Amino acid sequence: MATSSPARTDVALRAAHRGDLERILFLLEASGLPAEGVEEALGASFVVAQRGSALVGVAGIERHGGWGLLRSVAVRDDQRGTGLGRVLVENRVEWARARGLFGLGLFTLDAAAFFAHLGFERVERGDVPEPLRHSSEFQLICPMTASVLLLRFDESGAQRKAQMRAKYANAAVRALGNGRACSPDAEGVRFGAAAYDAALLEGVPTRAADASLACGNPTALAGLRDGESVLDLGSGGGLDVLLAAKLVGPSGFVHGLDLTAEMVELARANQRESGVANARFLEGDIEAIPLPDASVDVVLSNCVLNLTSDKRAALREAHRVLRPGGRLAIADIAVRGDVSPEDRREASRVLGCARAALEIDAYEELLNELGFAPVGFVQLKRYAASDFTRLDPTLAGDAPWLARVTRDDGRFESVFLRATRT
Ligand SMILES: C[S@@+](CC[C@H](N)C(=O)[O-])C[C@H]1O[C@@H](n2cnc3c(N)ncnc32)[C@H](O)[C@@H]1O
Repeated sequence: MATSSPARTDVALRAAHRGDLERILFLLEASGLPAEGVEEALGASFVVAQRGSALVGVAGIERHGGWGLLRSVAVRDDQRGTGLGRVLVENRVEWARARGLFGLGLFTLDAAAFFAHLGFERVERGDVPEPLRHSSEFQLICPMTASVLLLRFDESGAQRKAQMRAKYANAAVRALGNGRACSPDAEGVRFGAAAYDAALLEGVPTRAADASLACGNPTALAGLRDGESVLDLGSGGGLDVLLAAKLVGPSGFVHGLDLTAEMVELARANQRESGVANARFLEGDIEAIPLPDASVDVVLSNCVLNLTSDKRAALREAHRVLRPGGRLAIADIAVRGDVSPEDRREASRVLGCARAALEIDAYEELLNELGFAPVGFVQLKRYAASDFTRLDPTLAGDAPWLARVTRDDGRFESVFLRATRT
């Protein structure tokens, strides 16, 4: 299948497969590029350009932690100067961005100007991100002759939200299509119905439970009462809304709010299947909640606050829509102590949600400042090295960042927090 089209309409790009190996190696040799590791890395992270039956170009990405090493960019001699090299690189940049990589690095002897023209910046060897230093290319290059270039994917808040939508839309579409949202390791999305007692899930559509991306079970801890009005921030596939709707009974009502249209669609499909009448799902941003002031008794949220870039706005909004005396019940990922942005990004690639998680003291401070009291935390789980390697079996157990984020019993934790609107 063609993945994109170069300027020349008679050339098509497609994902490489094993049958291409020999011709790729031939192209690399003709371009004086190393072949080590290509066979192992071959697959969707490599793209080839085909003209008729001939293979005329290749480019690949080797993943190292949250970074990609752009490698094996080669174009057949008679196709040089056609813009095909640029198209191959842009295709791989797009591929890496869509997978949430932090950026791409590359090593080159003679093509630094070409890559600089495409936005890559020349850096010193010492500035190469740690994961890329483990690549065999980094170990092998001659520091005197090779240039190192990096392309960092800097994202604005809007871009981050767009990426988040794309990630969760993908998970929701899978859930709607297959009955199971996705494998636990797909695209950094972690599913968490394990946080719920099996008895609680009785009568809930299997698809709703399977699509859970929970850090905990806030409905169980919120002490929901008959007749209460509830809002779930970032309701995903709708499991907490459906459970809360049972707990508040027919005289109560539950709103679910989510940024991702496909998640809202999935939640509505789950609601129809469950026959729950006292709930509705809205598409919208928790940083601008589409509900009137003082209109709900309880705000729930499960593994969402850590994802939002403007937590102050989201919690201020939660405060606004709660009635005085209303309760906030959140399950979330939080951080203990200082963790560098780089280590957060690495941990987040595995946990799915840790990059912008709040430090526990900062969480408490912010809630107090916004008018919530008293604020209480319950620690649900701290993440040890074995949790990270279970979630990502390809992870090097001795990675230095892993040692840093798991010291002192673990720097990342799932917490439940409870607070009251004063
Ligand atoms: C980790 S999932 C959790 C979903 C659900 N609470 C659960 O436990 O299964 C995060 C959800 O938050 C949503 N989300 C992220 N940022 C949001 C925002 N600013 N406003 C509304 N929803 C948001 C995503 O679309 C996604 O469905």
